[in-house]
Amino acid sequence: MSKIIGIGKANISTTMSNEEWGAYVQTDDTWIRTRTGIESRHISERSTTALAVEAARVAVEQSGLSAEQIGLIIVATISADQMMPSTAASVQAAIGATDAMTFDLNAACTGFIAAFNTAQQFLANDVYEYALVIGAEQLSSVIDWSDRNTCVLFGDGAGAVLIQRSLCFLAGEVFTRGDEMGVLTLGAKGKNPYIQMNGKEVFKFATSVLTSCIERAIMRAKITEEAIDWIIPHQANKRIIEYVAKKQKIPIEKFVLNLNRYGNTSAASIPLALVDAAPNFKSGDKILLIGFGGGLTWGYSLIEWSE
Ligand code: UT7
Repeated sequence: MSKIIGIGKANISTTMSNEEWGAYVQTDDTWIRTRTGIESRHISERSTTALAVEAARVAVEQSGLSAEQIGLIIVATISADQMMPSTAASVQAAIGATDAMTFDLNAACTGFIAAFNTAQQFLANDVYEYALVIGAEQLSSVIDWSDRNTCVLFGDGAGAVLIQRSLCFLAGEVFTRGDEMGVLTLGAKGKNPYIQMNGKEVFKFATSVLTSCIERAIMRAKITEEAIDWIIPHQANKRIIEYVAKKQKIPIEKFVLNLNRYGNTSAASIPLALVDAAPNFKSGDKILLIGFGGGLTWGYSLIEWSE
């Protein structure tokens, strides 16, 4: 039902190493590296909107499309610069997508998957021919810089994917367990304005839903596990991914991993990993994107790459 015709990411030049966090909290490179796999992350002075706009521009330019042809823009984010108007409306104005319907979507670190699967419905039902799906976060503005349990984990980033109606979406689902929302939160309207997380509980949740997404995707698409060429999981912790690779006996090389350079960028992590890994993809490759996070939410999109 769809084909990816353009991808892009925001270029953030400022990085922050694990050692640099030592100036803010009691931590060190060894703890962060061994417990999470993160070596550095990007910290941006630019807003979530600015990052989203840059990623969108790169994707549109790569596609060769004119922005007026885009029918739908969805921005997945938990760090919008304001409640109203939406980040997607700002992107629409900045890139000149004069005919696009726009909205933001909050499904935390599952946001890009929820947005991507939503866009598929509009394309499959012939409502639009082109949709722009963006994951963008300036998480440095919503972390507590004095809480070592969370601050060292997150980073800023944005990635965008421009999709055309065609035949590459094989399966996709998104799930929510709202009764467990308390383990990962970020307030608004001045209340609890920082990300708070019970890391151990979320870790257990993450390993179980990653496994179930793999199983559900192969069942829904009626393929074998071996037929999946690449898995792009939300980039939260290397140990989560290594655990699932071992348990499911999937070669770790099939998992796209870039969290060592970005940290956890929430809704931006999957499109960022997609953009970075795209040079390795061949036409026909089956790629499983899996998100999980606050809500609690989780979900996947299984796509076939075409060039
Ligand atoms: O994006 C949404 C999805 N998010 C996730 O999937 C995250 C899932 N959770 C995790 O990745 C891990 O649970 C964390 C990386 C968050 C934490 O790792 P952990 O192995 O579960 O560590 P912990 O929270 O049990 O903490 C172990 C120790 C504690 O000290 P004590 O109580 O044993 O003395 C912490 O205070 O490590 C301490 N600690 C730190 N030490 C140095 C916690 N943060 C730090 C730190 N530097 N930054």
